[in-house]
Amino acid sequence: MDARRSLLETDGARHRAMRRLIQFEFTPGNVATYETFLRGLTATTLDNAFAKGEFDFVDEVAADFPIRVLAKLLDVPDEDTGQLIEWGNRMVGFDDPEHADVLIDSAESEKYKDLPFRSPAALEVFRYGDELRRQREGKDGKDLISLIVNGVPNDGMKLDDRDFHTNFLLLVVAGNETTRHTITHTMNNLLNNPGQLAFLQENPSAIPWAVEEFLRYASPVFHFRRTATKDTEFAGTRISEGDKVVTWFASGNRDDAVFDNPNTMDCTRNPNEHMTFGRGGPHMCLGNALARIELRIMFEDLIGRLNSMERTGDVDFLRSNFVHGIKRMPVRATQR
Ligand code: HEM
Repeated sequence: MDARRSLLETDGARHRAMRRLIQFEFTPGNVATYETFLRGLTATTLDNAFAKGEFDFVDEVAADFPIRVLAKLLDVPDEDTGQLIEWGNRMVGFDDPEHADVLIDSAESEKYKDLPFRSPAALEVFRYGDELRRQREGKDGKDLISLIVNGVPNDGMKLDDRDFHTNFLLLVVAGNETTRHTITHTMNNLLNNPGQLAFLQENPSAIPWAVEEFLRYASPVFHFRRTATKDTEFAGTRISEGDKVVTWFASGNRDDAVFDNPNTMDCTRNPNEHMTFGRGGPHMCLGNALARIELRIMFEDLIGRLNSMERTGDVDFLRSNFVHGIKRMPVRATQR
């Protein structure tokens, strides 16, 4: 575990110190400054997709957009985005024979147990990160890589090699797959709920709030597993120090004690206290404001220009109990 430890698996003061290094970049105020950039990017992505008429929604729309945002934050060339997507697929698809280099439940994966997702692709990501680190070390860049390479957390301990590798990899994966799948699910969910789509077309001012329902209904991350640090009791269940505890975000998002008609997509649902980014804990998704603005801008533009869209084949789901992913969604679409 230690070999794979990133921000996400670090506790206490060290976690706070590391998170503080980059958290300013992700504040709602800071991500709001990306609005013009995001609008331009969305428009280009959608222009290209609609020009084709028939296309794979994942390839043309959902995958392209979040990875280009990430490329800007990391300050890496747009030409590298295809490679970043491929690495993400190979790692997060650890359970899917189409994507995994080595299936996680195979004996062979033991060889890679010290790598994130037990995936040899992680070594390629580390090497790519090393080169970027070499270029930026000691310079005054403001991109995320420069911040983690040159910044000193307020506990005085710079990130060592492992910290750099695992956190660089976390940034590459966390901002990419999750947002991509949320965009595809949301389009699919709107096609399945034409009344909701029509409502948003007639009431575009409802889209910013509807993003919360997009996130709840998509539940792109099924679960995280944590380890109890002390004996405790939770909702009547005894948990001992060292026990593995799985938090099912997807299940929390369908909790009928919290949500009326949890299996219904209702874009006016308010309150909407979903668990898609975690909830209330110290590891609450650092990128949540960024993901929210990406989703808002994408669907403001997409819903605004959509004349018709229909699926032309099956929705192809990722085989995974970790990420609720969609690999392909072929569609035919026209714009107004
Ligand atoms: C819809 C999109 C996203 C979803 C569903 C999502 C989901 C999550 C979840 C469930 C966690 C763990 C929460 C916990 O343990 O309490 C998390 C943590 C994190 N996310 Fe996201 N995320 C998304 C987008 C992003 C983006 C765009 C970025 C940045 C580029 C990002 C960066 C991170 C980081 C760095 C952490 C670790 C935070 C920490 O440990 O302190 N995420 N995310």
